Amino acid sequence: MTNKYMYFIANWKMFGDLRTLNSLDKVIKFSKTNKKNKFKLIYCPPNILIRPLSKRLKNTNIEVGAQNCHESENFGPNTGYVNSKMLKNVGAKYIILGHSENRQDGESDKLINLKIKSAIKAGLKIIFCVGETLKEKKNKKTKKVLAKQIQKGLKSIKNKSDIIIAYEPVWSIGTGMIAKSEDLIKCVAFIKSKFSKKSPKILYGGSVNAKNIDKLKNVNNINGFLIGGASQNSKKFIDIIKKSISN
Ligand code: 13P
Repeated sequence: MTNKYMYFIANWKMFGDLRTLNSLDKVIKFSKTNKKNKFKLIYCPPNILIRPLSKRLKNTNIEVGAQNCHESENFGPNTGYVNSKMLKNVGAKYIILGHSENRQDGESDKLINLKIKSAIKAGLKIIFCVGETLKEKKNKKTKKVLAKQIQKGLKSIKNKSDIIIAYEPVWSIGTGMIAKSEDLIKCVAFIKSKFSKKSPKILYGGSVNAKNIDKLKNVNNINGFLIGGASQNSKKFIDIIKKSISN
């Protein structure tokens, strides 16, 4: 990996409670070794943990993000939802949008686009997920799918280079399978080609762990990783980071 500044984003999905936060002491300690600013750490826990986690991470260089939001900028009659302003208010600085688990629940490109716009307005930084399903991959539709997700998801958004793109092939999430290096290089280059000016940062996500990180870190056009399962365990998460930043 030739990039100097690497992102490690923990997507906790529906994991964690107040007690779980104690396990982060190890990561906080480890983050203090980051004197040369080689990596950036961001935790995206469930909404209920954003506030307590932000408090706990005060005076550290670890940041907090959310995993999804309602598209409306205002308070409203939307039982069970929160909007991006509310997430910002409790300490989120980032937000994951367009995750395939939410796309599978019916989120359209258009809805994701509205969410991205409202989150930008609220002052959150966007982690925008794209990726093809196994069927699409087998039918050689990967590029077409990525192009559509990017075009529709980021429609009429200025400053696209501020958005972090997470390339997460759906077939790789939680399955233990990772993309082949040569495919990954091509997909990342393809995603970059969709941005005329400065390219956004591009991360890889899908079954990243301490065993496969040696392979993944050699893909030199990616800027870091979006990590699900393995980020729930502080030791495993630290191992991934250590291996990624070692030469
Ligand atoms: P896993 O690392 O558990 O495969 O999850 C990846 C993911 O969906 C991150 O957003």
